[in-house]
Amino acid sequence: MTVTPINYVTFRRRVFAWYAEYSRSLPWRSTEKNIDPYRVWVSEIMLQQTTTKTVEGYFDRFVKRFPTVAELAAAPIDEVNRLWEGLGYYRRCVQMHRAAQEIMKRFGGVFPNNPDEVLSLPGVGRYTAGAILSIAFDQRQPILEANTIRLHARLLALKADPTQHAANTRLWEFAEEILPKKNAGRFNQALMDIGSLICTYQEPRCLCCPVVRFCETAKHGLQSEIPYQKAKEQKEYRTEVALLVRKQGKILLVRYPEGVRWAGLWDFPRAETNAEQHNKIATDQEFCERLALITGYRLEPGKLLETIKHSVTRFRITLLFCEGINHGKIASPKNSKPYELRWVTPSELRQIPLNSTGRKLSVRCNCLF
Ligand code: ADE
Repeated sequence: MTVTPINYVTFRRRVFAWYAEYSRSLPWRSTEKNIDPYRVWVSEIMLQQTTTKTVEGYFDRFVKRFPTVAELAAAPIDEVNRLWEGLGYYRRCVQMHRAAQEIMKRFGGVFPNNPDEVLSLPGVGRYTAGAILSIAFDQRQPILEANTIRLHARLLALKADPTQHAANTRLWEFAEEILPKKNAGRFNQALMDIGSLICTYQEPRCLCCPVVRFCETAKHGLQSEIPYQKAKEQKEYRTEVALLVRKQGKILLVRYPEGVRWAGLWDFPRAETNAEQHNKIATDQEFCERLALITGYRLEPGKLLETIKHSVTRFRITLLFCEGINHGKIASPKNSKPYELRWVTPSELRQIPLNSTGRKLSVRCNCLF
């Protein structure tokens, strides 16, 4: 396949002209000359693996409560996690809080504009650093995220898996080559918008695309083949049980430790079961042992209160929420470390950061508490 070289001057002009007319109005986008790097950083961390639509509901609330890096750094992590609740990928939140504390300590509370220093912050990779440096400091730094990966892969007719080294390297090179000397942040945001609004995964709107004349994929009609997509993983079905354990008007919660999914968030004690019926769960020894390891209590499921279905990666989970019967503390087996526990009142339950199913159950079963 012969590839026509791109005239970058025309390419950039067309991108800027399109953006002047069609840019998305997003809450973290500033029309002011002085862009606050703190706000750009918060938005870019929230936008990692998350759609703009989801982030729109969170960004304003977050920066209203924590308008500066100093206020974020000084806040208790539980309060930061509570505002993050529902956004997913909770490690981002913990790392962002840690990064805020580093910015206070290492940079006197001033957001750094040196690429190595920005990259040294927890939770900041090449994409996020490029976005912050280009958008907030107008540095000529490339970005590559889901929308621009798709757009560039199509412009170049790149058939390879973009997560593989050679293809990824080519995409980063291209993202850098096409950058203008000035207004790189504006240009990067324009490319993201073209990727999101025009160069959609299914049925891209090539007729409205400002850069279609440079697109090798459109030229050869390969839109349905590019970008490359991995075969879908097989779904796996599993059943988990969460327990409502009560003591003198308080409810038992466990906190997920570092290194596991939902780290830092609280939840009702919960474990997987292989029992096929609700009335068989209590005799599922492995389930009871899992819960004992987590809580240090011998717990038994009682009456079924609620059922919810949800997905985590390839798992399709049926979660049963049951009354929990507490048979008391057990001696912890050697080498086991129970999760942090807390008995909370119903009003504390509203304040504490829960994982999404914990929150859903606490709202649906509110009348039980
Ligand atoms: N996705 C990641 N960063 C973004 C941004 N700044 N604007 C729109 N979409 C994005």
